[in-house]
Parts: sequence; structure tokens; C-alpha cells
Amino acid sequence: MNLFEKQSCEFITRHIGPDEHQTRQMLKTTGEPDLDSLINKTVPAAIRMQHELDLPKAMSEHQYLQHLKEVSLQNKVYKNYIGQGYYDTIIPSVILRTVFENPGWYTQYTPYQAEISQGRLESLLNFQTMVSDLTALPIANASLLDEATAAAEAMTMFFNTLNKQDHITHPKFFVDKETFPQTKDVLYTRAKPVGIEIVEGDYKKANIDLTYCGAIVQYPNDKGSIEDYHDFINKVHAAGAFVVMATDLLALTLLTPPGELGADCAIGSAQRFGVPLGFGGPHAAFFAAKDDFKRSMPGRIIGVSVDANNNRALRMALQTREQHIKREKATSNICTAQALLANMAAMYTVFHGPDGLKNIAKRVAILTQTVAGGIEELGFELLSNNYFDTITVKVDDITPIKEKALRQQINLRYFDNKHIGISLDETTLAEDLYDLINCFENDKNPVAFDIHHDDEPDHIPGNLSRTSSFLTHPVFNTHRSESQMMRYIKMLENKDLSLNTSMITLGSCTMKLNAASEMIPLSWTHWSKMHPFAPADQTKGYQQIIDELSDYLCEITALDACSLQPNSGAQGEYAGLLTIRDYHEANGDHHRNVMLIPISAHGTNPASAVMAGMKVVVVKALENGYIDIEDLKAKAEQHSNDLAGIMITYPSTYGVYEETVKEITDIIHKHGGQVYMDGANMNAQVGLTAPGLIGADVCHLNLHKTFAIPHGGGGPGMGPICVKKHLAPYLPGHVERGKRNKAQAMAVSAAPYGSASILLISYGYIRMLGYVGVKDATKYAILNANYMRARLQGQFEILYTNHNGQCAHEFIVDLRPFKKSAEIEAEDVAKRLMDYGFHAPTMSFPVPGTIMIEPTESEDKGELDRFCDALLSIRQEIRDIEEGKMDKKNNALKNAPHTQAMVINSEWNKPYSREQAAFPMYYVTQNKFWPSVARVNNTYGDRNLICTCEPTEAYMEAEA
Ligand SMILES: Cc1ncc(COP(=O)(O)O)c(C=O)c1O
Repeated sequence: MNLFEKQSCEFITRHIGPDEHQTRQMLKTTGEPDLDSLINKTVPAAIRMQHELDLPKAMSEHQYLQHLKEVSLQNKVYKNYIGQGYYDTIIPSVILRTVFENPGWYTQYTPYQAEISQGRLESLLNFQTMVSDLTALPIANASLLDEATAAAEAMTMFFNTLNKQDHITHPKFFVDKETFPQTKDVLYTRAKPVGIEIVEGDYKKANIDLTYCGAIVQYPNDKGSIEDYHDFINKVHAAGAFVVMATDLLALTLLTPPGELGADCAIGSAQRFGVPLGFGGPHAAFFAAKDDFKRSMPGRIIGVSVDANNNRALRMALQTREQHIKREKATSNICTAQALLANMAAMYTVFHGPDGLKNIAKRVAILTQTVAGGIEELGFELLSNNYFDTITVKVDDITPIKEKALRQQINLRYFDNKHIGISLDETTLAEDLYDLINCFENDKNPVAFDIHHDDEPDHIPGNLSRTSSFLTHPVFNTHRSESQMMRYIKMLENKDLSLNTSMITLGSCTMKLNAASEMIPLSWTHWSKMHPFAPADQTKGYQQIIDELSDYLCEITALDACSLQPNSGAQGEYAGLLTIRDYHEANGDHHRNVMLIPISAHGTNPASAVMAGMKVVVVKALENGYIDIEDLKAKAEQHSNDLAGIMITYPSTYGVYEETVKEITDIIHKHGGQVYMDGANMNAQVGLTAPGLIGADVCHLNLHKTFAIPHGGGGPGMGPICVKKHLAPYLPGHVERGKRNKAQAMAVSAAPYGSASILLISYGYIRMLGYVGVKDATKYAILNANYMRARLQGQFEILYTNHNGQCAHEFIVDLRPFKKSAEIEAEDVAKRLMDYGFHAPTMSFPVPGTIMIEPTESEDKGELDRFCDALLSIRQEIRDIEEGKMDKKNNALKNAPHTQAMVINSEWNKPYSREQAAFPMYYVTQNKFWPSVARVNNTYGDRNLICTCEPTEAYMEAEA
């Protein structure tokens, strides 16, 4: 390789942890002479890819950033007044720099290990409190994927509340015609498979009877009009049904909130609270509801509890709600959501406080009424006189106005040939109004308008003006200066263990490097300021990335077509299953609705199948972790006539490449079924094998695992699906908004390309690694896992390896024997790892009482060794208990994690030293990470459910 070729490949060595020397040492430990020999013994020959991937060559980081800058310039950044749920916003620079662009925040994992996640838990609690306060509903969750899916979740929640599974008495759901069109699309998609009947109409004329489970109205509505839904809500309640209001958080600072109008639920997007447009996402949706729904709400809820020392501690409340536990009983499949973006919105609220938000809202409202007045003076009429930030202007013909707007680089919303929408936002300046009004001007008279700076918004009806206070909690009224804000953010960040502290070995989650060069472009204006419904000729840069990335993903999966719409792995599952369902229906096989799912599957698999209207039939596993082929054959035979397909994960969630996988896919095809592959473990496939080679017809890819999108503390993510040719016509698509034929409705997300801006990360990953690097990444993921397995084997029992004794890219360590020998549970080991500076591996999935370790290729030998040393040291601590040298109840594992407060307490009466508690190995002394609370008491918190910031008195009591 010459110097210049070397330069192009330099990112490969930045992304992959072990260097040549370490690789040799690690191979020695695994007993293999070289990497290829290890791979040959690990990946079955029958499924190996026989060619190199047809992907571009690697680019250096510098070359890539130059390239992406050039592509970005094909996007035209116009001033957007399109609205429709997406508004430009000012990201406070302190939040941009210290949250959005900070690996301390974006590389966090979902806060399952509460003791080392108190920072983001606190911030998510702020998010919930903000949503709850602004909507005046008592309980809010910690984000959903987008506004449209949040609406669908509310609809499903109402439907499930009023209907028994086999006895549907309230099938109808009313949708007001002035609901955002993308929300309607997703509602239609989600309603059909589960038997909900959507009735679309004018809420004023709706006849709601006992056959309805609920209704949705938009507030302010799609045209910007503020409607009084009070009577409508009473009418729906009188029929025993529920109402969800889709709403806008900024508007709610000025409008009577949904809770005060009697709504049962409120949903919407928190995007305009400081989250960039990004061509559609990622953004956090919110979901708030009456108390009655607290146990049936979708998504994660953060709640307040106490720790082992009775100090306040936060954790995810009602964790049994997590869908991997509920399996096919699940009513929702939400797993990855939008935590990072919820944190940004929460920080925006902390930064501005109630008065700041109200000022922004008033400014927007006053500018809107000024524009409205200016346009009315020109002789135009508005559709409604009651508005906040959006007006709809009636025109004879949009053509001349559109031409003039485009000439001024302005995007307006064109409903049809006679109606134009204009939505203002906090970035609108008074000067902008000249150009805006000028679009409607006849070019003869100069535009003139007056802004009375002391004006009050006067187009919000008096009976719908907010009188109640909100955001009174000190956290929203303290951090006004940038110094305070910066320190608040840092204080929370310090409580959380992220990838910038140490490796996070979460099996099935692939916590690999999220390289800075992959992340940096997200902040560039030409990517971040793009509206998802901007005209296509302004978004050519995005189109290029989307087209190229789709091609790369098809090549990698050996499949033929791709949809980049799903916003998470689980949403990809849902989209993929709908694709299968629609394919069967198109073939006249309406009855094919049985989905076989192995017992080891992730909980989202059966949950998605239920949402897609399918019947789940579980397939057994053998002792070695393989799918039980005999059971599979019997079930496929039994359901042959109505078989829709199978969902498999490959390599399996047990961390092995089943040699029998092709036999499995053949059996399903023989019975007329389709094979769905859960691509969560794709990091063990890229370049070595591919779903299409194994027999998959459809596969989702978690771009937030294999393709380097960070986990953001529980989202964002992207779960595109790739399919074989015959399924391509049924992929989710975005037919032009509002022009969709109801029968073909198949949007699963609000935005056409889901969280489009983070596709750049996966694009960057593939372009900088090139075809050689992505394959090397897979090989090293396997090497790292097998190296750790080899180091731990003998001291721990490793479950499920192949006939050569190898694991795939992850492996399961059995901790169940220690329960008997030392009364030690998997949880004790997980918490003790925190004292060693590590996040626990995946706990009790897919096998209870175990941990699943996935190191990824991004960790070097030094870090892998530290983690193995920690586990081996913990093994010795367990041995001390087994041998009676340490008490069974009072030991370093049971008391873990140890906080600073515990260790510096002048009283120390534990049967081990302080050093042993907090600095159990030398390396810990060099980089100590302190858990900020002791072991969290989950049960206490669930019994005393508090999911918003408590009143100040609660803190005072805690301090006393
Ligand atoms: C095997 C498997 N399938 C599906 C999912 C769901 O993916 P997501 O969280 O992106 O919805 C996960 C998530 O961890 C997983 O591990």
C-alpha cells in the first residue's frame, strides 16, 4: 500500500480497536493461527459470502468530510414557513455544544443500570415534567418516535382499553379531517391490521356513538385554526370513549391545555424545543395521559424511587412494561425511542424557563398576526381568525405567489391550488415579514407593516387563553446564565457512564465507536435546516445520500430494495411484517397470518407481529441454543395453510451461527411462508454472509447498532428494511402527502425518510471504512468476542458455542450457578461491575440469570483485558463467599455499587476494606467512575409512582 492508499484507509485503524501486534496476541489466546482461521471455524462455510462487497473504497476522515460538504451544497436552505409539525428552532449554543455534540450524552445506553444513569434520568424526568405541565395531564412518558406514531399509540391504547382481545365492541376511531396528513397516514396504517375502523370527518358534525373507542383532534389544527374542543370532548366521553389531542408545546404556553379541556391524552412533537429539523428527524414525540392510563401507556416512564441508603434515586418505572417481558401480550413494540432529543428539549426548557418560553410564543404569535394583518390588507382572506403561529390564506391561484416565494427562497405550504399555509417560528425576525408579505404583494406598492412591541397576541380566543401556571419547579427557574446552564449539563453528564468512560459490552446492542467524523456533519446547516416536506429540487443532497445508502444496504444484505422510513428496529420489524402481510394479501392469501417466532426472540418480535395483526406461534429451542427443527417442522406443517412466515435473528440471540439456518428458511418457504430476519446482530454478518444468502425475504437493520448511530441514552435509532424483489412493491412509502389512496396507506413514520439526518452517520461509516473496512469490522467483532470468551472460559460457564467451541460476535455467561453456591444473582454482578468502572452487559436476555457480552470491534486489547480482569476479580470475590471467607449477605457484591458517600463515611463496618469496595483493581485508581447513588429500590418506586419532578419540599425533606 503506498502512502496515499494508506491515507485513504486510515479510518479503519481508528475504528477497529486492536492493532496488528494485539491481534496476534489475541489470536494466540483463542488458539488460532490467524484471523481467517478463526472466522472459518466460526462462520459456517455453507452460508459464507463468496465475493467481496461491491461498495466503494475507504476514504480518510478528511476526504470524507470534504466529500460530504460538497454533497451538502446540493441541498438548498430556504426559509421555511411550511409548518405541518416541523418548525425551525434556535438550538441554544450551550446545548448544541455540550449535549448534541457531546459523546458524554450521545453515546449513553438506555438507562437500565440506573445507578450510573442518574444524569439522563434526571433530564428525562425534566422532559416528563415539562410535558405534563404544559399539557396539564398528570403522567407523561420519556418520548416516543414521532408525532404520528404517538397518535397511533394513543389510538391503540384506547382501543385496547375498551375492547377485549376476542370481542371487539368499540372498533371505531374518529379522526378530525384537520389533523396533520402524515399523522392520518400512520393512523390508517396502524388501524387496519388490528381491526380499528377509522372514521374521518369534521369534529363539529361527528356523530360519536357507543361503537367508538376514541377520537383525535389537532390543537391548533392542520390549518392553524384554534378550535374549542370542549363540547366535542364531552360528546365523546358521553359515548364512553376517549379523546387524544395532538398539540404543540409552544402553543400550550398560551392556550388552555388539553388536560383542562378534559382530554384523556395529549401527544405531539417536541422538535421545536431546540431540535434541528434534519429533514424529518430525529425528534422526540411526547405522550401524556390521565392517571387511569399509567399502566397501559406505551414507552418508557422515568420515576422517582430511593436507593439502598434511602436517598432519592431515579430509574425507569414499571420496568415490567418493557416489551421484551410482555412478548406477545404487548400492546406496543416501543423499545428504542428518542431519549437524546427528549434530553435536548428538556434542556431547552430548563434554559428558557416558563417566562422565556412564553416570550418566544408571544413573539411568534405577534409576528404571525402582523403577517396576517399585512396579507389581509392586501385584500386576501384567512380561513380562520383564531390562530397562534399558522395562518391559511385563501387565494384564487397559488401559482404567482408560489413563484414569487421561490424567487425569494421562501417555502410556503400549498394545501391545494387555492390555499396557502404560513407557519412562523422562533427564528422568524421582524425583517423576514417584508419578504413574506411581499409574496402576496402586487409588486407595485412597497410592503409596510407595524409591529407594536407591547402588543399581546389577539387571535387566541379568550376562552382558550391559558390562565394556569406551568414549569414552576426550581429546575426550570434557576439556570439562566450560560455558566449555570453549562455546569448543570456537566453535573448531570458526570453521573452517567458513557462510551467516553469505558466500553459498554451490551450483547445485542452493539455499542461500537460513534466516530466524531461521522457525527460532525449533523450540525451543518445544509443538513440540519432542511424541512422534511421541502420541494424535491431543494433536497438533492439528501436524495443522493438516501439513494447511495439504500444501495449499500441492499448490497450488504444481498437483498433488492430498501425503505429508510422506520425509526427504530422494532418499527422496522413492524414495517417488514406489513410488507409480508400485504404480499400475501395481494396473492389472495388473506388467511396467512401465523408468524412462527423462536422462544429466544427479542420481545419486540412478537409485539410487532401482534401489531401487524398476526398470530404468534412460539418455536422451541434446543439445549445448545439452536432452533428445534423438529418443533419448527411440526408447527410449519400444522399451520401450513395459514403460515405468514417466521421471524429469526441471525446469528441467534444466543450468539451462535446456526448451521441449520438454511434448512429453517427452506422449510418456511416450502410452506408458503416468508422469512423475516431481525438484523440486530448484523455486526456478525457484514461482508462474511448476508440475510439474502441465508434465505431471508426481508430484514431490518438497526443502524444504531451495526452502522454506528449512537444510542443516545435510549434513542434515536433507525431501522430501515431491505427486501427481496417480490416484496418491493409493498415497502412503506410516502405517496405524496394527502394524495394517498387509503387502501395503499403504508406510512409507518411521520417523515418520508424517518430520522433522515442520522442516516449521514451510517453513510459516513460505510464510506470511511469502505468494502474492506466493513468486513474487517465484522471479523474483529468476532475476534474480540472470542478473545474475551477464551479469557473467561474456565472461570465462568459460557453458554452456547458452536461445535468448534466458538461464539459469534457475542456470548452468554451463565451466572445461575452462583445463586446456589453463594446466593449471588446476576444483578449483584452487574452492580459490582460499576465499582470497577464498567457498565453491565445485557442482563437476563435471552436467558434469565445470565449476562450477554458483546465487545464490538472498536475496543482494543487493553480495554478488553480490563473488563475481563474485572469479571475475573469478581469471580474471585464470589469464590470467597463460596468458600465461607466472606459473608453471604454482607459482601462487596450485595452492597454494590459503592458510592463516594458510602466510602468516605467515617463509619465503615463492612467485612471488606474501603479500597476493596471502591478501588478493587489498580486501573480503577487511575480512572475512577463513581456511581452517584447506591443500589436503587425498584419496588418502592413502583408502589409509590412519581413520574414528574417532585415539589421542592420533597428535596428539602431528603436533605434533612
Ligand atoms: C434482537 C433485537 N431485536 C430487536 C430489537 C429492537 O430494536 P429497537 O430498540 O431499535 O427497536 C433489539 C433491541 O435491542 C434487539 O436486540
